[in-house]
Amino acid sequence: MKDINKENQVLETFWDNAFKEYQPCVATEDDLGITGNLEEELLFINDSCKKIIDIGCGDGLMLMKMAFHNQGNTYLGIDSSSSGIAFASKTSKLSKLEHLTFEVGNLETIKKITTYSYDGIISSNFLDVIPLDTAKLFIPEIIRILDKTGYLLLKVNFIIDKPETIKPGFVFNDDGVFIDGVLRSTNKDDEFWINSFKPLRLIKKDYYQRNPIGPKDRIFVFKKD
Ligand SMILES: C[S@@+](CC[C@H](N)C(=O)[O-])C[C@H]1O[C@@H](n2cnc3c(N)ncnc32)[C@H](O)[C@@H]1O
Repeated sequence: MKDINKENQVLETFWDNAFKEYQPCVATEDDLGITGNLEEELLFINDSCKKIIDIGCGDGLMLMKMAFHNQGNTYLGIDSSSSGIAFASKTSKLSKLEHLTFEVGNLETIKKITTYSYDGIISSNFLDVIPLDTAKLFIPEIIRILDKTGYLLLKVNFIIDKPETIKPGFVFNDDGVFIDGVLRSTNKDDEFWINSFKPLRLIKKDYYQRNPIGPKDRIFVFKKD
């Protein structure tokens, strides 16, 4: 039987360990390496919204990108990883980025946020790397805290086709793709994400080439009317 708490714990520890390697630094906008369609969509949210939250912000780069173009917005990044949050907080301070706060948090943190609090929500490679049952608890909360005419930018991994030969350490099953026992993608198609966020309205679908080689991440921009 699935132990969802254990799965979440394994995942949170995996990401927390990954961010322990990161050294806080003075970053320029170019250092963030966010270009192309992702840059375009983030700056659209930045220009269209005033109060922006990034859920599962990790190292905080998405909000830092926006904060380099800040014209009076406030930004909050939430993530379960204390090392990710420490890196994001220190790097944004060293880089003199303002009105940008990062806090350790999880679903319980989001549940405490007042309805309609944010007119901009970012969630990048977060909802599709956590167990589906957990993502299904986050989604209604994200819809709830989004302001009445707010925007949501959702980024998820590319779909992974079932390979004919599974590499060592890979498991491919109905729950998604696992590497060395850690969930790396629930591998859901576009329709799944679009339907999950109803009644939000999809206003744009885009792609982002995260690595020079390899498939593209999917970006969905939703609007609450
Ligand atoms: C693939 S990383 C994405 C980080 C960042 N958003 C990005 O696009 O690079 C997934 C993030 O989800 C965070 N995470 C996993 N489970 C979480 C939970 N239950 N609550 C909050 N954050 C969680 C991890 O700590 C990690 O930072």
